[in-house]
Amino acid sequence: MDPIRIGIIGGSGLYRMDGLTDTREHVVDTPYGPPSDALLLGKLDGVDVAFLARHGRGHKLIPGQIPFRANIYAMKSLGVQYLLSVSAVGSMREEIAPLDMVLPDQFIDFTRTREGSFFGNGAVAHVALADPVCGALRSVMAQAYADAGFADIRLHDGGTYVCIEGPAFSTRAESTWYRSLGAAVIGMTNMPEARLAREAEIAYATVALATDWDCWHPHQVCVTAEIAIGNLQANAQRAQTLLGHAVRRLAATWPVSAAHSALSSALVTPPAAMT
Ligand code: ADE
Repeated sequence: MDPIRIGIIGGSGLYRMDGLTDTREHVVDTPYGPPSDALLLGKLDGVDVAFLARHGRGHKLIPGQIPFRANIYAMKSLGVQYLLSVSAVGSMREEIAPLDMVLPDQFIDFTRTREGSFFGNGAVAHVALADPVCGALRSVMAQAYADAGFADIRLHDGGTYVCIEGPAFSTRAESTWYRSLGAAVIGMTNMPEARLAREAEIAYATVALATDWDCWHPHQVCVTAEIAIGNLQANAQRAQTLLGHAVRRLAATWPVSAAHSALSSALVTPPAAMT
């Protein structure tokens, strides 16, 4: 099979890709167990892509149950070099309203229970993560937003995504504290996904779909799953349009990313398979 260079991980509300043609299911097992679901392989605008529903189709996994390592491993073994992630988030800023799109450039990881690295058990590496999002891929997403010409929703290019363990939403004290740390948005799924992608030398960028105001805002209603899901459904179609444009742009240039050689300066003791 030819390598599939682009992977898409769809979050809550994005369990399939409408524009995908020539689709086939790819059921796979990995050294880390099965991924969240079968991957859907197909073509988006003539470009090969692999799609995976992060929570499984039918949304069966809470964030802490997502097999992040298996998901990234499965993408890597197909040949994926660029990973586009779609994620629902709460807004932590007055200027980011529900239905806006955000392209985070930083993460703060407050997850607690997740396997967060491919390394360990005698294989040692410390990848650089100062810039966890691939700048080239993020700029492709920003151009894709311009291509899409959405008149009714705004894009915020950059911002810090705070990742909490969940599945409960934050307390008001936590929410206020995350804001004081500089958070732009809050979600439950982009870590350790972004870090694992870097360890796998895959360029990673996420489009975060704002669904709610979390619970810090003095005049807006606090987040509920019902509010978040309602706003997500309103935006799922736009997310797919954006991804279509992003894939087209990516395939026109295949930008080189520092992520593609992340291990060249990171390995201390290579995995047995690499020696
Ligand atoms: N996903 C969507 N909204 C969220 C919020 N307020 N907190 C954490 N994850 C979210």
